[in-house]
Amino acid sequence: MRIDIITALPKLLVSPFSDSILQRAINKRKVEVQVHDLREYGIGKHHQIDDYQFGGGAGMVMMIEPIHRCIEKLQQERSYDEVIYMTPDGERFNQKTANHLSLKKNILILCGHYKGVDQRVRDRFITREISIGDYVLSGGELAAAVVSDAIIRLLPGVLNDETSALTDSFQDNLLAPPVYTRPAEYEGDAVPDVLLSGDFKAIETWREDQAYERTKTLRPDLLEE
Ligand code: ADE
Repeated sequence: MRIDIITALPKLLVSPFSDSILQRAINKRKVEVQVHDLREYGIGKHHQIDDYQFGGGAGMVMMIEPIHRCIEKLQQERSYDEVIYMTPDGERFNQKTANHLSLKKNILILCGHYKGVDQRVRDRFITREISIGDYVLSGGELAAAVVSDAIIRLLPGVLNDETSALTDSFQDNLLAPPVYTRPAEYEGDAVPDVLLSGDFKAIETWREDQAYERTKTLRPDLLEE
């Protein structure tokens, strides 16, 4: 899989892909992530990428021309299964969307900034608009990193234990059961006996029950879906 990200602030996207699982996935060539600096496609001497909004009002709007140039160049090199715009008014991102996107070959993500992008960008180029939650970030970069992380960890061969993504919270609309490690007792707090029993059938049943109980208590809405 390949993920291209267009941004006015490319430095914000260095660290998320330079550590841990995402870095390993890139090194193992399970995914290629390319960040494109929108400023390189800006207009005139100052590489302008934003301007005042028509009709007045506070805040700058990202112009269509630099974005058009950048998307056009990238689309000449490959075709994209999705061109995603990160925006608080998009569809709410969840595990189902992550699973769906993890099956794609090429994804292009556009990060918005300031007041957002000229509406004509959305009308012309965008196939999907995604929000990571009902709050407003300073820009789409952190949201793009969140979406990329959720997708990349699902790619085959990225996690060491291939089954571990399947037991994540939200797969099957259930939260994950509690986990414990050594010591078996800490200041009087003991790990549930069943986990030390060696009875794998009983452990499996316990985990399923716990996942269900947790979901019922913390996120009953998931059980209704
Ligand atoms: N850009 C600003 N806020 C955002 C959000 N909540 N989700 C996605 N992109 C955003």
